[in-house]
Amino acid sequence: MTVARYFDEMSYGPAPEADTEARQWLARHKGEFGHFINGAFVASASGKTFETNEPATGKLLAKIALGGAKDVDDAVAAARKAQAAWAKLPGHARARHLYALARVIQRHARLIAVVEAIDNGKPIRETRDIDVPLAARHFYHHAGWAQLQETEFADQVPVGVVGQVIPWNFPFLMLAWKVAPALALGNTVILKPAEFTPLTALLFAELAAAAGLPAGVLNVVTGEGETGALIVEHADIDKIAFTGSTEVGRLIRERTAGTGKSLTLELGGKSPFIVFDDADIDGAVEGVVDAIWFNQGQVCCAGSRILVQEGVAPLFYERLKRRMQTLRVGHPLDKAIDMAAIVAPVQLQRIEDLVAKGVSEGAALHQPKIELPQGGSFYPPTLLTGVQPTSIVATEEIFGPVVVSMTFRTPEEAIQLANHTRYGLAASVWSETIGLALHVAAKLAAGVVWVNATNLFDASAGFGGKRESGFGREGGREGCYEYLKPKAWAGRKPRPAAVEPALKPVAGDFAMPDVDRTAKLFIGGKQARPDGNYNRNVLSPKGKVLGEVGEGNRKDIRNAVVAAQAASGWSSATTHNRAQILYYIAENLSGRAGEFADRIADMTGASAANAKAEVEASIARLFTYGAWADKYEGAIHQPPLRGVALAIPEAIGVVGVVCPPEAPLLGMISLVAPLIATGNRVVVVPSEQHPLAATDFYTVLETSDVPAGVVNIVTGSTIELAKTLASHNDVDALWAFGSAELSTLVERLSVGNLKRTFVDYGKATNWLDREAAEGPAYLRRATDVKNIWIPYGE
Ligand code: NAI
Repeated sequence: MTVARYFDEMSYGPAPEADTEARQWLARHKGEFGHFINGAFVASASGKTFETNEPATGKLLAKIALGGAKDVDDAVAAARKAQAAWAKLPGHARARHLYALARVIQRHARLIAVVEAIDNGKPIRETRDIDVPLAARHFYHHAGWAQLQETEFADQVPVGVVGQVIPWNFPFLMLAWKVAPALALGNTVILKPAEFTPLTALLFAELAAAAGLPAGVLNVVTGEGETGALIVEHADIDKIAFTGSTEVGRLIRERTAGTGKSLTLELGGKSPFIVFDDADIDGAVEGVVDAIWFNQGQVCCAGSRILVQEGVAPLFYERLKRRMQTLRVGHPLDKAIDMAAIVAPVQLQRIEDLVAKGVSEGAALHQPKIELPQGGSFYPPTLLTGVQPTSIVATEEIFGPVVVSMTFRTPEEAIQLANHTRYGLAASVWSETIGLALHVAAKLAAGVVWVNATNLFDASAGFGGKRESGFGREGGREGCYEYLKPKAWAGRKPRPAAVEPALKPVAGDFAMPDVDRTAKLFIGGKQARPDGNYNRNVLSPKGKVLGEVGEGNRKDIRNAVVAAQAASGWSSATTHNRAQILYYIAENLSGRAGEFADRIADMTGASAANAKAEVEASIARLFTYGAWADKYEGAIHQPPLRGVALAIPEAIGVVGVVCPPEAPLLGMISLVAPLIATGNRVVVVPSEQHPLAATDFYTVLETSDVPAGVVNIVTGSTIELAKTLASHNDVDALWAFGSAELSTLVERLSVGNLKRTFVDYGKATNWLDREAAEGPAYLRRATDVKNIWIPYGE
């Protein structure tokens, strides 16, 4: 063998990381772990256990307590007991605790990295350089938010006791993403790690207690899916934060519907990796390595769909295949490998099955001729080309080292293909033309977009998806709000049941009839008759018929959704333009204030003064959102790597608005104005009992330059129309205020496309109270933050 040949082949010998300390830690626990509840390890009440194995060898690592109802009860009781005292600590005291946790992670970084690599099967190079440092950074960053809580979140209170269920692909990093913000902001936690990878959570609980974290603040209950379900369904938990499959996410949405538990879901993805013909091709090829072979592709935001512009496709594939040949698959503790083991045989099987299906559907399979280690669960880096956009491998999350690829011709086609998915987690855009890259980034349905980069994460930049990738953000200021709730909502009381006035003609009604003025629906900028051709009477509190409104049905809602979808230009209108239109609506409403006040008084029986106050408050509210329209802006993050991340609040899309029964004008405007101010288009169902203020309002809209389809109004039965909106897959979010029954059905029926819901569980808002009824709390729900990462510099 000559020196020249060594250089040619560049073959490395193994460079194993020592696992002595990790094995000693396992031995100290005699290979068996209980739950960590109230500051100490305790055995499962049932005595049942399950096993965690080493993916690289299949060997048993430890026996783990299998959590049952009693264990979850105990953990919740400990967390509940600790919560008030933990929340009462000054932010600075909690900041010190979080800082101590960051320090303890750094002091034990190597031990955590090795335990993680053994338990999960991922390369030590990744756990050492990515998972563990990013986890420490998360605790540091959130120590900062604890320190600043009293000033930065003065109008918020902690949610309370939080149940967190996490997956196996980043066991320790996901723990940090969940635990750090929850604790920083005054919540206590019951964490359930995934059954394949429970060890680093147990190690962390032990280290945290040694670092002085008070008992009960962080509890770890180990177990399988059923244990997770017990946490999700526990009556004394205030919030569930989940990361995992979309399937389980849906189940959790259903199970928590109507319970009042706050919920965040971080689910799957099928993220596009778009390569334009002016991209740095070698950079993009290296990007693919990080996008799909990092962590064996078991990454929710993995760039698993390459879209490459036709002209450069042959060159790109050639270089990619050449690069694939140099990848090394080896033992997790070997420091010189690129990929290690798949987490479990069942996952390996799933990958093999999906690839076989892809091939049977016509995809061409490319795998390098490289050696795989024997004994454990290993799968080679895999590229499937010539894939149809509808093929199962192009639509399903494979969650393995398998990337599919297809070509496109124009940027518009790339955007279309990229967005052709039910997911919307992340995307990666490769082009040397900044204008093109940002144009495409803005159009992608994704919570995170990396320009000429991929898989960058930082505690300062929120992470999370759109569509069926779930809702909520982790990291950054927006992530903090997921663990807080507005103080002003704390005092809301259940609204009294609606009293239906008896429908009876009132004496005197036989006088000369008014000119018939049946209010219509308002769809796509036009007054429309209801599809079913039925109308309903609107009564005064005394039962006098005040008028008729259309009885909207499914078809009307569908038409309204189509109109709202077609008005997508509103989302890209300038913020100045949207502000002007909100002021203009206010101006036109003000010109008819007396008429609206009379209408409200007639419908609700409010005194003239109160009715006038409602109209005045409505005008002021429109001004508030006119003001916010060009001031609700994003942020520029400067994560600790070269470049910036632009955090931009984006409209969610088409939003259904089911108005509260009370305050028929102000209630509607309080919900519609923040939504349209931020670029959403709405389908409004007015108060069922008092709909005439809303139908009068469309004549205000008609004179205020509101583009057709931005606001659509469908009157009728609240419950029936809400059902249609909740189960409509082209409605992206649904805000529904009214009875507890309404909240439950809205949350339950929203699972189809996992729409964002905003409900009040039957608790009435005082719409005149500005603190409770307007401002950023509403604007945050009207938007999703997109983070666009733009690396630059040296
Ligand atoms: P999973 O969604 O079943 O498991 C994630 C966590 O949820 C685990 O802690 C599990 O014990 C728990 N869980 C399971 N059923 C539950 C229930 N009914 N109620 C509450 N908690 C429950 O994911 P799994 O089975 O481990 O992987 C299956 C597929 O899911 C993967 O192939 C991948 O496609 C996807 N996945 C996506 C992840 C992501 O980060 N987006 C992470 C893990 C898996």
